Amino acid sequence: MKIYAIYNIKGGVGKTTSAVNLAYLSAAEGARTLLWDLDHQGSASYYLCVKPKIEGGAKELIEGRLNVNSLLRMTGYPNLDLFPSDISYRRMDQALEEEKDRPSRVVGKLLKPVAKHYDNLFLDCPPGLSLLAETIFGLCDVLLVPMIPTTLSLRAYNRLVRFLVDKGYNRRMRVLPFFTLVHPDKPIHRVVTANVREKHPVFLKTIIPDSNIIEAMGVKRSPIFTYARQTPDANSYRDLWAEIKERSG
Ligand SMILES: Nc1ncnc2c1ncn2[C@@H]1O[C@H](COP(=O)(O)OP(=O)(O)OP(=O)(O)O)[C@@H](O)[C@H]1O
Ligand SMILES: [Mg+2]
Repeated sequence: MKIYAIYNIKGGVGKTTSAVNLAYLSAAEGARTLLWDLDHQGSASYYLCVKPKIEGGAKELIEGRLNVNSLLRMTGYPNLDLFPSDISYRRMDQALEEEKDRPSRVVGKLLKPVAKHYDNLFLDCPPGLSLLAETIFGLCDVLLVPMIPTTLSLRAYNRLVRFLVDKGYNRRMRVLPFFTLVHPDKPIHRVVTANVREKHPVFLKTIIPDSNIIEAMGVKRSPIFTYARQTPDANSYRDLWAEIKERSG
């Protein structure tokens, strides 16, 4: 099972939107796909019309006292299942801290029973450089970092990279940043995307535009491909997924 985490220190940058669309594309290709909504906001669960509820909550889950397979929900889309959020995920760090074992090993162990049923696991991460975030850095194969092209976003990204290098996480996973919510009329977006492309070839070439059609996912409660499949906006996510697969081997 290959693990893709959609993560940024910053909030509101398109993590959940990207996680839902990328997981949908993975599943639509026939890969058995699981999306874990790790954010207590429960936005991915909302988009996929699944109740954000884990009976027993974060503490029992992390303590290994729940049957994880029984917590997974079908989404109605072929090959795509959801591991829902729960409000108790807000205490995930505390639950992880109370474990004796290394946090990434604890979460790796709890995922073991589901790993043989899925080809791809997508983690929709909450923002912040928390213990949960570090746990994910120690677990995932590919760290996808959606980013709005502004100066402060770039600063947060550089801090993240420094952190990953300092702790050695960059050696065990592929980090793939990409731009989201891009507005071609905004000079700052134009300047930052151009500069970054020149200086950081690691950035994916595909750009996800700031689009009313993408934003409508909140009203439609479904991935973009179900209601606007033949649009350039849907194609931007198709291009992104193709590039991610190419770049992550
Ligand atoms: N490409 C886009 N064009 C227009 N609106 C978008 C786009 N991507 C996301 N949005 C909107 O921006 C808001 C934030 O998106 P999203 O929830 O995906 O970000 P997030 O990084 O997961 O946020 P959080 O940190 O709160 O989890 C939402 O209202 C979403 O509908
Ligand atoms: Mg989110």
